[in-house]
Amino acid sequence: MPVPPPRIDVLDDYDALSRAGADMVADFLAATPTARVVVATGVTPMGLYRELAHRRERGDLDATGVTVFLLDEYAGIEPEDGRSLLGWALRSFVEPLGIPPEHVVSVPTDGDPDACAAYDLEVERAGGYDLAILGIGTNGHVGFNEPPSDASVPTRMVELLPESIDSNAAYWGDAARVPRRAVTIGMAGLLRSRMTLLVASGASKREIVRRSLLGPVTAEVPASHLRASADLRVLVDRAAWDGSGPT
Ligand code: GLP
Repeated sequence: MPVPPPRIDVLDDYDALSRAGADMVADFLAATPTARVVVATGVTPMGLYRELAHRRERGDLDATGVTVFLLDEYAGIEPEDGRSLLGWALRSFVEPLGIPPEHVVSVPTDGDPDACAAYDLEVERAGGYDLAILGIGTNGHVGFNEPPSDASVPTRMVELLPESIDSNAAYWGDAARVPRRAVTIGMAGLLRSRMTLLVASGASKREIVRRSLLGPVTAEVPASHLRASADLRVLVDRAAWDGSGPT
């Protein structure tokens, strides 16, 4: 059966997208104060996280009961390393929102298959994720679920594709500084999240956003599987939307 296109909100610009994303997350956390939340790093959700931090400063948001699950991490990178995605999530999300550090769960960064399976099992036993805040790679990856990734792939170690190494070079100044492997929460766990918020900004994402949301659901575009999520919300800015689909 064909999967219907999801609801897509097209915002004027990045700031509007960040505010709309913060509204959704804040509403969710108000209703579910002890939510288990998957947190992406990357550039796109940073405005949303800053918005949430402002709301906390104003006393409008209490995230102290939240448990954070780091979406992905470079293999073998220690938290103290400047490239650590855990470090990035701590600085941008956990600390500004006043979430206790003991409420933060990373993927097993050594990628040991038994540890990854145990991680997935523990999450499942706890009831799965409540909210996943996700970005999208220009090759359609979600976290580091590189194409091809089908809907059943578990948490695991992956080799980064050249396109991901190039895009991640923007974070660290040079492709040579990008680790070649990473551990990512698998599509299977992400797809069982109660709510999923996908954010995309800028013209570089336009083509992959269109393919992910309106093209065939395929392992070649891992983000296309998100359309099978229980409650997918998509926020894009005008630059990331080609206007040919439903809004
Ligand atoms: C990165 C990360 C993803 C992120 C995506 C988009 O490589 N592994 O978790 O969502 O690519 O990143 P950005 O928002 O910087 O474009």
